[in-house]
Amino acid sequence: MSVTSVGIIGFGRFGQLCARHLAPHFDVVAYSRKNRTTRAHEMGVQLVGLGECARQDIVIISVSISAFERVVEQIAAHVKGDALVIDVCSVKEHPVAVMERLLPATVRCVGSHPLFGPDTARDSVAGHTVALTPVRNAPLDDVRTFLERLGLTVIVTTPEEHDVQMARSLALLHFVGSALAAIDIGRVTLSTATHARLLEVVDIVNNDSRQLLEDMHTYNRHAGAVRRELIKALEDLDHELTGAAAKRS
Ligand SMILES: NC(=O)c1ccc[n+]([C@@H]2O[C@H](COP(=O)([O-])OP(=O)(O)OC[C@H]3O[C@@H](n4cnc5c(N)ncnc54)[C@H](OP(=O)(O)O)[C@@H]3O)[C@@H](O)[C@H]2O)c1
Repeated sequence: MSVTSVGIIGFGRFGQLCARHLAPHFDVVAYSRKNRTTRAHEMGVQLVGLGECARQDIVIISVSISAFERVVEQIAAHVKGDALVIDVCSVKEHPVAVMERLLPATVRCVGSHPLFGPDTARDSVAGHTVALTPVRNAPLDDVRTFLERLGLTVIVTTPEEHDVQMARSLALLHFVGSALAAIDIGRVTLSTATHARLLEVVDIVNNDSRQLLEDMHTYNRHAGAVRRELIKALEDLDHELTGAAAKRS
């Protein structure tokens, strides 16, 4: 019986996490612009050219959000007519629109956002959550069944609802984490357990690339408004505390 083949395009932090968890279940090949042969061999994954990677039964695109459109343009002519293409971008309106516009009409597409990363799901994805936004001809039941077998909770939503919620959760978390890193909140010897948890958040956020932070805010049209809401709340709080201090003196 032939095993379903998976091509992972982009072998960065998330592409490698995908490869590690999918290699036991599928024939996995991957495409990387960098020489990551040793890393790939450790996972039992073969590195191939972009065209060959795009000609597999299932194609997972795990490139930077800002590179997504260019990569889909490059692979569109290589993807098999009945292939299943899945993106993993941390925003959904942009990649879903790109796949609908650029991939041939027979190609089945599913938008996904795994709500975990290489730090939080290094050993197992069980117990984590993945958001799915079906695009067209999406074999949603098959995808859901496979993900649930891995122990994942699946939430089906729309690209817009996903981005509205992410603007208030993940994108905001990365914004706050990056700001806290800039003022070096770890430079203390007297810490509390809660402060230590905050430092963990800062570490996790900073393990991800600056490009991911930028892309999550540039390609999520709802993120700017939430950033400004937070800044206004901080200014109001500062105003209140400055007023309280003035009353005491
Ligand atoms: N990190 C997370 O926790 C996480 C969680 C869920 C979803 N995601 C999503 O996963 C995707 C990848 O993020 P990441 O964290 O893995 O970032 P990353 O480590 O910076 O990797 C980015 C990947 O994109 C590739 N790439 C960039 N431009 C490209 C181009 N023009 N052509 C081909 N490949 C290109 C890079 O290739 P090279 O290595 O060859 O430069 C690299 O493999 C993003 O869409 C992100 O939203 C990330």
